[in-house]
Amino acid sequence: MQLYLDTANLDEIREAATWGVLSGVTTNPTLIAREKGADFKATITEIAELVDGPISAETISLDAAGMVQEGIEYAAWHPNVIIKVPSTTEGLKAVTQLARRGIRCNVTLCFNAVQALMAARAGAFIISPFVGRVDDTGVDGMQLIREISQIYRQDPEIKTKILSASIRHPRHIVESALAGADIATCPFKVLQQAMRHPLTDRGIEQFLADWRSRT
Ligand code: G3P
Repeated sequence: MQLYLDTANLDEIREAATWGVLSGVTTNPTLIAREKGADFKATITEIAELVDGPISAETISLDAAGMVQEGIEYAAWHPNVIIKVPSTTEGLKAVTQLARRGIRCNVTLCFNAVQALMAARAGAFIISPFVGRVDDTGVDGMQLIREISQIYRQDPEIKTKILSASIRHPRHIVESALAGADIATCPFKVLQQAMRHPLTDRGIEQFLADWRSRT
C-alpha cells in the first residue's frame, strides 16, 4: 500500500518528502484554504515539484461542465495533477469526459460501495472513501474499504485504485492496508505519530547509556 500526504502545507510536504515514503499528495478546498493567502496554482505546481507522484487538485463546480473546465485547466499545470471530483452523477459525467481526454480523476467524498462501483465504471483513476468521517457516524469506516476492495478485486475490468482517506490515527493506516486499500492519504501529524513508539525511544536511551558506559 502506498502512502500519500493529505495536506497543502509546503513545509510539511518538504519534510515528509525527505523520509522517502511519499508516493503522492492529496489536497482539498479545506486544506488549500488553511494555507492563508497561498495561490492555488502555485501551491499545486510547487507540490508537484516536491513529490514525484499523483497530486490531487479538487474542483469546486457542482456541474459537470464546470468540473471539466476546471479539470482541463488544472491538468495543464503539471503532468502529475489528478482532478478531484465529488461522488455525484455530475462527478461521473466529468470523470467520463476527462478520461476521454486522458485526464485522470480522483472521485472523492465516497461514503458507500455503490458510489465506488459507479466511479470505477465511469473510469475513475482513484476512489476516495472517507474512513474517518464514516467512523464519526458510528459506522465502521474500514468495512467500506473491505467492501470496495472485494467488489473491485472480483472484476478484472476495474483498474481504479482505492485510496483510504480521512485517516485519523496510525491504526487507520494499518487497517487500510489489511482491508485492501492501494493507498492511504495521511495528515502529516499521523505520519509523524506512526513512527513514534515509547519502546523505540527507551531502546535508543538504553543503547546510548550502555555505549557511554563502556570501559
Ligand atoms: O482529503 C480528503 C480527506 O482525507 C479529508 O479528511 O480529516 O477532513 O475527514 P478529513
